Amino acid sequence: MGLNNHVSMKHFNSFAVCADADQLAVLSSAEQLPELLPVLAKHQKRLILGGGSNILLTSDFRGLVVINQLKGIRILEDDTDSVVVEAGAGENWHAFVCWCIENGFHGLENLSLIPGTVGASPIQNIGAYGVEIEDFIESVLAVDLHSNKQVKFQKHDCDFAYRDSIFKHRLDRYIITAVRFRLSRLFSPVLEYSGVKEKLLELQLHPRSVTAQQLSRAICELRRLKLPDPSLIGNAGSFFKNPLVSTRKYLSLKADHPSIPMHRISDTECKISAAWLIDQCGFKGFRIGDAGVYAHHALVLVNYGKASGGQLWQLARTIQDAVENMSGIVLVPEPRIL
Ligand code: FAD
Ligand code: EPU
Repeated sequence: MGLNNHVSMKHFNSFAVCADADQLAVLSSAEQLPELLPVLAKHQKRLILGGGSNILLTSDFRGLVVINQLKGIRILEDDTDSVVVEAGAGENWHAFVCWCIENGFHGLENLSLIPGTVGASPIQNIGAYGVEIEDFIESVLAVDLHSNKQVKFQKHDCDFAYRDSIFKHRLDRYIITAVRFRLSRLFSPVLEYSGVKEKLLELQLHPRSVTAQQLSRAICELRRLKLPDPSLIGNAGSFFKNPLVSTRKYLSLKADHPSIPMHRISDTECKISAAWLIDQCGFKGFRIGDAGVYAHHALVLVNYGKASGGQLWQLARTIQDAVENMSGIVLVPEPRIL
């Protein structure tokens, strides 16, 4: 295991902001763990990363960064209805989704093209187009850095919620090493999210006979229309979570803004569109220097080239203030701010 000093993090975060880490190690096999754990124990500040697509570095990182590249996919259980597949935390998420589709293991189609790694998927319970990963997670395998022991979280231990899990509240305590998924042999497409059926029809595919490959392709096309490719324009996807508010709060907002989009969670709770709130405040396409709001989606902050993490964070706070003044809602960032 190589340990490097004073490493530029530019290629380890999808915002492509420049910041240095004091030390960086790449974990590429489980055999390296006995060597890595004592090194981690010496550092008060540590950061376990996958693809860096859900972080914002606002300054240099004065500690040890571990890039998790643990690989390997294996089938643990296989019966007529379902399979249990284990994937190494460092596997690329989209490549894993494609592998599942090719092998006839279903459920993850709507999560196609989400950047990052398998190991990060439980951290914020990744979700898109009407599907959340919690529906398919069987267990999460990790090393607990408090005890240096291997631990296994069953799905019900993970406290999954919208963009949330137990891991988000215990950051850098666990190195997730692998995730086990229960996937179906039967393909049951989820097509209810706004725009999915329309996209299929546009591609001349019939929603009733669509295949898993075709649905995945349609999702990829939808995503490419809305979201910037991080290899071309730095970003971390949605910068804020969609706020959950009481139905009473929603109704009072609707009185002033009749077109406000809403997704009902229960009789008493609604999810409001953060993109809409930001759009209404006039930020879509806004830019200060190289820090901006994507012109095709108001929820995505972008680095057009040389923006620093501090400048992007400053822009995020300006947006937060404007949305709070307009609606009384405080937007919560989705990426981890470091
Ligand atoms: P990183 O950014 O490396 O890490 C994220 C967090 O997880 C950090 O707190 C890190 O410390 C922790 N972590 C990562 N790996 C481990 C590990 N092995 N063990 C312990 N802790 C770990 N997200 C969605 O949910 N839905 C979307 O539709 C979506 N679309 C996106 C589109 C774009 C263009 C981009 C750039 C991002 C998008 N995201 C989306 C956010 C992001 O891709 C996901 O959150 C993804 O799971 C992050 O994976 P990563 O490997 O890059 O995590
Ligand atoms: N909208 C606007 N202005 C915009 C963009 C969108 O007003 O510039 C409104 C539209 O009314 C639209 C609504 O916002 O109908 C919702 O937009 P979209 O369908 O793009 O979804 P989102 O709420 O912005 C969420 C996730 C995405 C995920 C998509 C698809 C969050 C924070 N974001 O975005 O996840 O891919 O739904 O399911 O929940 C991510 O987490 O990084 C991410 C990209």
